[in-house]
Parts: sequence; C-alpha cells; structure tokens
Amino acid sequence: MRSYSLIAPAKINLYLEIIGDRSDGYHELAMVLQSISLADQIDIQPIGIDTIIVRCDHAEVPNDHTNLAYRAAALLTKQFPEAMAQFGGVEINIKKNIPIAAGLAGGSTDAAAVLVGLDLMWQLGLTQSELEVLGAQIGSDVPFCIQGGTALATGRGEELSPLKNLDNLYVVLAKYRNLGISTIWAYQTYRQQFSQTYISQAQDLETRQHRVHSGPMVSAIMHADGSAIGKLLHNDLEKVALPEHPQVLELREAFESQGVLGTMMSGSGPTVFALTESEAEALRVLEAVKTQIANPELDFWTAKFVSTGIRLAQS
Ligand code: C5P
Repeated sequence: MRSYSLIAPAKINLYLEIIGDRSDGYHELAMVLQSISLADQIDIQPIGIDTIIVRCDHAEVPNDHTNLAYRAAALLTKQFPEAMAQFGGVEINIKKNIPIAAGLAGGSTDAAAVLVGLDLMWQLGLTQSELEVLGAQIGSDVPFCIQGGTALATGRGEELSPLKNLDNLYVVLAKYRNLGISTIWAYQTYRQQFSQTYISQAQDLETRQHRVHSGPMVSAIMHADGSAIGKLLHNDLEKVALPEHPQVLELREAFESQGVLGTMMSGSGPTVFALTESEAEALRVLEAVKTQIANPELDFWTAKFVSTGIRLAQS
C-alpha cells in the first residue's frame, strides 16, 4: 500500500454574515469562501499496527484527539472498521505553514486532507460529496476545504454552491504571532451582543439567504471585478474582534492606507488580509505595512487565489 502527500490550502472569507440561531446551537450563516495558495502539506503513510499517529512540525499543534486531523482519521476508522482491519493504521505528518487559531481554517483543511488521503489509501472509493458529508461532522469549514475554489456557503457553512473561480487576485496576510482568537469565543460574544438582530422565522431566513445569493458580492465575483470585490468585503465577526483587539484594527487601517482593493479580518480572526491585483503589488504592500508597524511579532505572507481544494502534491 502506498503513501500519499496532499496539499491543504487555507481559506479566507470574502463575506461573512450572521443571520440567526439554529436549533443545533450553531449560527445560520451566509458566507463567500475563497481558497488561497498558502497551504499545509499532509503526508499519510500506512503503519502495521491498528492505530492513528499524528505528528506536526509546529510545537503548539496537539497530536491527540483534539487535533481535527486525528478526528478525521478516527471518524473513518469508526465508519469503515474493516478498512483498518485490512490495511492497518496510519501515520499523519503535518507540515504546518498556515498559522493556527488565525481564522484561516488551518485545522479544518488538515482534516479535509486526511479524509481525502485515507479514502485513497484505504481504497474506500468515496465520492466528493460523501467525503463532504463526513467532513461536516468534524467542522463546519471542512466540506469547503475539500472542495475549495470560490463558493457561497450557507447553513452552518457546510452547504456549498460553487461560484466562478477567481484566479486573478492576490492577497497579503498579516497576523500577530502570539494573538489567537477562539472561534467559539467570537460567535458566543456576537450572540451576547447582537442576538436581538437575529432572524428566527424560517421564511425570513430563506429570504435573507437568497438576498446574499443574488447580491452584489456574488455579482462582483461573476464579473471577476476585483475592485468591486474589495469594496464589498464584509465580516460580521469584526464587530466583536476589532473592539477587543485594537492592534487588529490598526493593521486593517495600515493596509487601507496603502490603497489596496480591500482589506478585512478573515473568519473569526485575528488574521487580516488585503486584496491586490498583482503579486508585485502584494509584495509592495507587505513591505510598506511591515515598515509602518515595525513590530517583530507581526508575521506576513503573500498568496494567490486558487481554484482547488485538497489535491495530491506533485511527487
Ligand atoms: O464547526 P466548528 O467546530 O468549526 O465551529 C467551531 C465553533 O464556532 C462552534 O462550536 C460554534 O461555537 C461556532 N460556530 C457557530 N456557527 C457556525 C459555525 C461555527 O456558532 N455556523
């Protein structure tokens, strides 16, 4: 049985609107998600014994069942016990390039890669939509991480409608190394502060979702209009994260002062991204903001929009 190496891209949110409460305790969302070229590499290899081993080159990433990659392997083991009995266990090595607790779905995309890789290694023959249904049991972002590209995501984030691929945009990302935001904290705080604005009637929920589906951001994407996309970036979770973390707001303002197409916090943060039309412009903005803020704790990356989710690494 052979080993597999997979590329697991990060995602950014171009749009994140919190619509209301769901009966399962999650939030009903309308989002536009985008894969970017910043990616982890996941290597999976068979081992003789019936166990799951996770290793990661990043000291703060856990190796136990709290790691979503471990949970993905455990879920497949539970669903397909005969596969592990026949083929044995798996060792998962994660080469971490995506910052953690950053709003970039780093843990979710690793889990997505494990589902795709184990499906191949254990010859399960699952379809992409079957993998996505399994992925949704691990985390709301996992189905998108499997599929990738540009997509509208509704429900708790797991109901996906692919949109036209955007492959002509670049992004600069910045994150304070020691600042992480818990997704649970962000949504709980939002609920405490804004639940009076939540829509609760099923029909109203649908109308609101439809408005996003046919709205200005989706139209800008269909026209591949980078300038309109930049102006229409929206993230409700900024309302709780920016007042709590002024340095995230400062970062956003620094990007804005560089005349980028648009800038916003991704997901539950605290990563801030800025859109540009070329790689050269992304690098210029990176250097300018690095000089402007001059904090050794601030990490930067540039990346390109990509149209793929989990894929095999070229060997
Ligand atoms: O789905 P996932 O486990 O990644 O979500 C992490 C947390 O984010 C959830 O436990 C919940 O507190 C919050 N969340 C939410 N509504 C969503 C997605 C996530 O409230 N649609």
